Amino acid sequence: MEKRTELYRGKAKTVFTTDNPERLILQFRNDTSAFDGEKVEQLDRKGMVNNKFNNFIMAKLEDAGIPTQLDQVLSDTETLVKKLAMIPVECVIRNYAAGSLVRRLGVTEGQELNPPTFEQFLKNDALHDPMINESLAISFGWATAEQLAQMKALTFKVNDVLKKLFDDAGMLLVDFKLEFGVDGDGNIVLGDEFSPDGCRLWDKETRKKLDKDRFRQGLGGVVEAYEEVAARLGVPL
Ligand code: C5P
Repeated sequence: MEKRTELYRGKAKTVFTTDNPERLILQFRNDTSAFDGEKVEQLDRKGMVNNKFNNFIMAKLEDAGIPTQLDQVLSDTETLVKKLAMIPVECVIRNYAAGSLVRRLGVTEGQELNPPTFEQFLKNDALHDPMINESLAISFGWATAEQLAQMKALTFKVNDVLKKLFDDAGMLLVDFKLEFGVDGDGNIVLGDEFSPDGCRLWDKETRKKLDKDRFRQGLGGVVEAYEEVAARLGVPL
């Protein structure tokens, strides 16, 4: 597999084209950003930890019948993935109240949400990823009703699989964000990444934060927390 040109540089990952038009390379960098890129720092080992973590989780999701873009791990920080036409709608499930939900509705952090909630946001940094709904997504052509229904069903399926995985390892999956794309055959496939950068994880007993909130809130020990999550799950680093 030959790495060719840089296609897109995101806040934490860079996407490269390859000699295969159906494959891209995701490179996980050490850059860590919050507040739409206002706060950015380089954290040693984070690219490696997130790449390995993401591959571990994506493989678990594939095993559970969820189609993902994962193809093959190439190096500590690089993974070969299927090329998808990404849909600019972020899907968020919350099992406990935290983050923007607490700020928006004034509810108590840590309140269990039963049933879990599902929200959609437009992926647009300049607009700070505004909350949208299915009707807006369809009217503006960001996705079809069928695609949105599949994305929602898959996000709930991911929640079922991962809630149990983290619970068995002594952690609460508080919330998470997924992004989907369309493959060459028109199928909805899970893209982007699943790592502690894009979810909230708390220790089940102490509720210690083990995710990017440590960075957002200046709590320190960010990569150490990610490594602790990986160790508890048995992700080889
Ligand atoms: O900020 P908010 O509470 O809405 O985030 C919900 C979940 O989605 C969190 O786990 C957060 O890390 C993730 N998220 C993300 N990327 C965004 C927005 C939210 O990974 N652009």
